[in-house]
Amino acid sequence: MTNAHGDVRVIDAGAPPARYARGWHCLGLAERFRDGTPHAVTAFGTELVVFAGEDGRLHVLNAYCPHMGGNLTDGQIKGDTIACPFHDWRWRGDGRCAEIPYARRVPPRARTKAWTTLEENKQLFVWHDPEGNPPPAEMSIPRIEGAFSDEWSDWTWNELVIEGANCREVIDNVVDMAHFFYVHYAFPTYFKNVFEGHIASQYMTSIGREDVQGEIAKAGGGKNVLTSEAAYYGPSYMIDYLTSDAGDTTVDAVLINCHYPITPTSFVLQYGAIVKKQPGLPDADADATAERFANGLGKGFEQDVAIWQRKTRIDNPLLCEEDGPVYQLRRWYEQFYVDADDVTEQMTRRFEFEVDTTRAVSAWEDEVARNLARGDVQAGV
Ligand code: FES
Ligand SMILES: [Fe+2]
Repeated sequence: MTNAHGDVRVIDAGAPPARYARGWHCLGLAERFRDGTPHAVTAFGTELVVFAGEDGRLHVLNAYCPHMGGNLTDGQIKGDTIACPFHDWRWRGDGRCAEIPYARRVPPRARTKAWTTLEENKQLFVWHDPEGNPPPAEMSIPRIEGAFSDEWSDWTWNELVIEGANCREVIDNVVDMAHFFYVHYAFPTYFKNVFEGHIASQYMTSIGREDVQGEIAKAGGGKNVLTSEAAYYGPSYMIDYLTSDAGDTTVDAVLINCHYPITPTSFVLQYGAIVKKQPGLPDADADATAERFANGLGKGFEQDVAIWQRKTRIDNPLLCEEDGPVYQLRRWYEQFYVDADDVTEQMTRRFEFEVDTTRAVSAWEDEVARNLARGDVQAGV
């Protein structure tokens, strides 16, 4: 009789965090909330109402009215307030009750939670901090010049609800060099990460797989080279400056990849793109290109989602040399899940790592060549 020898790696699935990340979270394009109606957002394990008063300013309040629990998302905007559908109490954007039409006076402590908001890049952000501190200035969302320029297209915007996974799965992508080949049909030839403070960056050059035919691959004659500089600013908002070189055409794009948690095991993933217009070409061309990029990005997320929905959470990944710095990234990410006073220098100090892609690239080039020789071409995006 033989027994299995040696140490078998046992997966530690851990448990999703009991709290939600401290930081700015993007709720989508600001304009969408300015339609004169209240909007319901389920985030951070609670219900929120987003509305713009007549002055056009966007506000986020707890959805449930502190009077008797009415749902403000079913209410109406009256002046600069949101009126509860139950007894018409009027709530201002700062959380104060402005008026109770049937009452002689407003109770002095009539106040609900107003969430701190920010508009940047034509998007709406809400600040989440379990400790209730205001957002530090250095965590502000950087401005994207193209979002305000006529030389760029308008934003495309999409969202996907991911059930059954904590949002750490999407963060892991920042360092996951190898999955780009297997999941996203492109292989990195250059891959580097830098983490510092509240910013986690990924610098990547990647080449589209010639054995995968799709809209994007075809557009580039199968040789699409992407240069990407992507960074998370805080726990959930990634800006990706991208140049796509498909031989005869070069496209500059900015992609947004962001999310907000619904519960510890579900989140809303959002993505959008703007594209720099090509001189001499109609604006519609840039809009179409942005749409194409966003679709590509969307397909990419669907590929990730297919993996996430079948995988387990894993706190102790078993890594090889060509894998990126998963543990260091997660240490960086941890800073958003502890009290501000418990953020350690280890979580925020500068860390740089370049993956040596030499071995991976030669293996992948061989695999692609073998597939092409066999006429084994997959449908792609
Ligand atoms: S519950 Fe909102 S006004 Fe009464
Ligand atoms: Fe991915």
